[in-house]
Amino acid sequence: MSARLDFGGAALRPMTVASLDDVLALEDEVYPFPWSRGNFVDSLASGYTAWTLSLAEGGLIGYCVAMTGVDEMHLLNITVAPAARRHGHARRLLAGLVQVCRERACGRLWLEVRESNVEARGAYRHLGLDEVGRRKGYYPAPEGRREDAIVMSLDIAAAGALDALD
Ligand SMILES: CC(C)(COP(=O)(O)OP(=O)(O)OC[C@H]1O[C@@H](n2cnc3c(N)ncnc32)[C@H](O)[C@@H]1OP(=O)(O)O)[C@@H](O)C(=O)NCCC(=O)NCCS
Repeated sequence: MSARLDFGGAALRPMTVASLDDVLALEDEVYPFPWSRGNFVDSLASGYTAWTLSLAEGGLIGYCVAMTGVDEMHLLNITVAPAARRHGHARRLLAGLVQVCRERACGRLWLEVRESNVEARGAYRHLGLDEVGRRKGYYPAPEGRREDAIVMSLDIAAAGALDALD
């Protein structure tokens, strides 16, 4: 593995307002319909679980934002930089969220994903999430169209595959 692809020292930290310039740069790079700064600021102000994953020298390689309800967690955003994918970073972020679910007695983690996002759906299925529903026209799409969301869910009690943190 080249030094450039050595992500071993990546550090997980709470997302802060100070990290939002880097977060928004990655958000804008990855999504055709990105979250706004206001979406992130509101999430932080609401006390959502929000983390960044950065290299030792400071480069941002991923982040996640999740909202905890009474007994379930809703994953609102999980993003890994294109050059850092398939190195276990989403697994690491999800494993941390599963840990929070256990601490807060949340039995399930939920998320929505675009129907066309086969990469993320594949990764989520691989990590033990099930496709349990569909929300019609949930997402904006090019030329004023809408795209369905696939609803996915993880039973925290059965999330053993995410227990082993590196
Ligand atoms: C989806 C995403 C977060 C995955 O991040 P990642 O860091 O590449 O994922 P990981 O490397 O942790 O992979 C997790 C597991 O899923 C598997 N996986 C990853 N991509 C996969 C794919 N396209 N198909 C099948 N399995 C896949 C990996 O092999 C890994 O399993 P393993 O640990 O047993 O080897 C990343 O592709 C991304 O940021 N995509 C763009 C943003 C996005 O779509 N976010 C989700 C919106 S709902």
